[in-house]
Amino acid sequence: MEKILPEIQQRRARRALSSQEIPDELLQRLLQAATLSASCFNNQPWRFVVLKKDFGIALAHARLSQGNYWAKTAPVIIGVATRPDYDCELDEGRQYALFDCGMAVQNLQIQAQHEGLVAHPIAGFKAAELKEDLGIPADHILITLVVIGYPGTDNELNDKHQELESSERVRKGLDEVVFPGTWPAQSRSAE
Ligand SMILES: Cc1cc2nc3c(=O)[nH]c(=O)nc-3n(C[C@H](O)[C@H](O)[C@H](O)COP(=O)(O)O)c2cc1C
Repeated sequence: MEKILPEIQQRRARRALSSQEIPDELLQRLLQAATLSASCFNNQPWRFVVLKKDFGIALAHARLSQGNYWAKTAPVIIGVATRPDYDCELDEGRQYALFDCGMAVQNLQIQAQHEGLVAHPIAGFKAAELKEDLGIPADHILITLVVIGYPGTDNELNDKHQELESSERVRKGLDEVVFPGTWPAQSRSAE
């Protein structure tokens, strides 16, 4: 594992965040890294709504799921939105807008990790309501909020989240998700 890039190896979905402000220049760098992502036909389907103190972040706070209370400490939340027709739409359900947004968020996460920041994407928020609050058109998908901040203390996290901060990484084994050459017959019949 020591040959895995440190930014990938060390990145965690941490919830213990500091409220320390993030310099604008650094935030711009994260967004730049996101937009350097690959996309189908270079369609660049991602749109980012940057929320900060006095610039809309309270709107996001009001729409977080209960379990995402910890995100209220972060100085920045970025809403990631797209529309399916901003990107390739091919046969077999191969719609690439969300895929490419995911790639862009991953770039942002890796750059954030490199800069000593936490960038934690979340799905737990009321998307329809928040879209309206932020003026995002109804035909767009607000796929995630990326909660960004410097690492902080875990004093204000609940017990479960305190435990998760230092938990072992849980991953399926490669043998469960990597199929050499052909799909395994066993799981074909189970589907
Ligand atoms: C699309 C997506 C949605 C997620 N939603 C939430 C969320 O709503 N709340 C939360 O605390 N973590 C959320 N997470 C974080 C995951 O739980 C976390 O990435 C996963 O448990 C793996 O842990 P690791 O990122 O530390 O390796 C989300 C992650 C992704 C990629």
